Amino acid sequence: MCWIFAYNGDKNSIPLLVDGLKDLEYRGYDSAGLIGIKSDGEVFFKKAVGRVSSLATKVDADTNSKWDYSTGIAHTRWATHGIVNEENTHPHTSANERFYVVHNGIIENFKELKAKLEEKYTFYSQTDTEVIAKLIEDSFEWDLRSTLEEMMKTMVGAYSIAVVDRENPDTIVGIKLGSPMIVGEADDGVYISSDVNALSKVAHSYVTLEDYEMVVVKDKQYKIYSAGEMISKNVSEMDIEYDTGDMGNFSSFTEKEIFEIPEVLGNVFNGRINFEDKSIGNETLSELNEHDIQRIEIIASGSSYYAGLIGSYWFRDLAGIPVNVTISSEFLCDTFLPDDKALYVFLSQSGETADVRESLKIVKAKWCLTFGIVNVVGSTIARLADMGLYSHAWVEVWVASTKNVIAQVGIMLMMSLSMWLARDLQYSKARAIIEELGWLGDKIHEVLISTSHIHEVAKKYTQYSDMFVLGRNIFYPTAGEISLKCKELSYIHTENYSAGELKHGPLALIDPELPCLFVNPAGKHYVKTVSNIEEVRARSWVVLGFISKWDPRKDDLYTDTIELPDTSETMAPFTSLIAGYIFALYLAQELDRDVDKPKNLAKSVTVE
Ligand code: AGP
Ligand code: GLU
Repeated sequence: MCWIFAYNGDKNSIPLLVDGLKDLEYRGYDSAGLIGIKSDGEVFFKKAVGRVSSLATKVDADTNSKWDYSTGIAHTRWATHGIVNEENTHPHTSANERFYVVHNGIIENFKELKAKLEEKYTFYSQTDTEVIAKLIEDSFEWDLRSTLEEMMKTMVGAYSIAVVDRENPDTIVGIKLGSPMIVGEADDGVYISSDVNALSKVAHSYVTLEDYEMVVVKDKQYKIYSAGEMISKNVSEMDIEYDTGDMGNFSSFTEKEIFEIPEVLGNVFNGRINFEDKSIGNETLSELNEHDIQRIEIIASGSSYYAGLIGSYWFRDLAGIPVNVTISSEFLCDTFLPDDKALYVFLSQSGETADVRESLKIVKAKWCLTFGIVNVVGSTIARLADMGLYSHAWVEVWVASTKNVIAQVGIMLMMSLSMWLARDLQYSKARAIIEELGWLGDKIHEVLISTSHIHEVAKKYTQYSDMFVLGRNIFYPTAGEISLKCKELSYIHTENYSAGELKHGPLALIDPELPCLFVNPAGKHYVKTVSNIEEVRARSWVVLGFISKWDPRKDDLYTDTIELPDTSETMAPFTSLIAGYIFALYLAQELDRDVDKPKNLAKSVTVE
């Protein structure tokens, strides 16, 4: 979602704020704004619609930006309330222009609060955030800290908020409930950020705020409060190296992240799988096997949800454990029936997705066993879960999740193998899979060197505005994830169906203008899926097959094919996904889309 960045210290905050916003623009890029305050209360206030570069241009054009604004707050917005325009861009201000606010999240009761405030104040924007600014002015008595403490009792929703006060120019107050907030300690002062990555370039250590905590920064020092009392918290050394670097020879950062997949898989398995003796040796997984787990519930959103669905087949097939996978926003709407024999697995790249985070809190409140598969170290979901494994996909910056999905899928295969071995000593079968995992990197390289063919195929498919993306069994969610990637990158409307379900309705859409992408590598359901493809071909539909090299029907059944290296069925979701990512990427590039920052999206979705 949006990103908050704030600074108080020895340096001029303006260039620091702009640099910070540029670095983490992927969190939201509808519009951006900042305010700097000099110690005499004079302000430098700028907003711009669009990318951070538009804000940077405005800032650079104003020579006042060079003065010494020792305190400042900044924001990139992903609009939830109110259209994308300059009025709705943060920071928002009180009517007396004393208080300025940046906010990540949603104030759910903003309508009622606004209705009361409208009797006294005129509102210039449609946002929920402006209500916060007006409420501060309305409730302010003698200090910002106690005012915000009181306001937290009135405001309903999830938020992290940073506020500055022109009459106390060297002060920033930050509060958080739900959305993340991190305080960075640096030699030159104190930083506040929604994301630890942003702090890694400037701070030597950091503190993560928990819900209902508040940070008060004053004159390059900070204090943390909880329920009105000052508290001390653990300070972590900054050990994160964050650098988006340059694109090298890649056509986009997204492509670069896809090409990192073989190394990411190496990270996932290193130290966890012993390829010499073909065993799994991981403390967390051994500890997990000490629990009596009769059922698994996987809860996630978006690509992480599809990864969960893919993993669910292995938990059933290999470990013999019943599994259910639920979209986290649906989990929140449903009745939760706690099961003390179930393992609740939460998948999230960012570790901050609001729907997943809130689902985890519900499960934890009933003392059920929770397990996080998270990429961002120290993120909320990673901290809240009882146990977990990091995806080790390095920083995934660009909006489309690719390398992290492969890492999540790899972890679930490893978990299934470990749970299988703990329950049913099928060593030889498990060893065969582990042995093949050792070769997976090479198979993935085979896909990565066939990009020019995939590119040619993708070019051809840009002529269509709709597409079915189909598969059976484990290749059904694999197709689902490919379909999601095609949608979000290319904006082509794609629909994911189970191959066997086509004849139960969707076949009525028969039209040569609606191609079908079938993911059908070799496996136990290959023949049945071929029958579904025949049904489609009998009606002259265009069929693109993601198939094994081995496929005996490759020359007569398909309009076009993308051939995957020959592997067992267990490895084929990995190679199919990667081929699908490359296909979606080139489809989008051919259509001139901004693949790194697709429209209307943001990397980390911190609102429900
Ligand atoms: C994936 O390409 C998406 N942009 C999106 O669906 C993402 O996977 C989803 O928002 C979940 O994010 P998370 O893994 O950080 O929880
Ligand atoms: N709700 C606020 C808005 O729409 C903040 C959204 C965000 O987190 O970017 O402006």
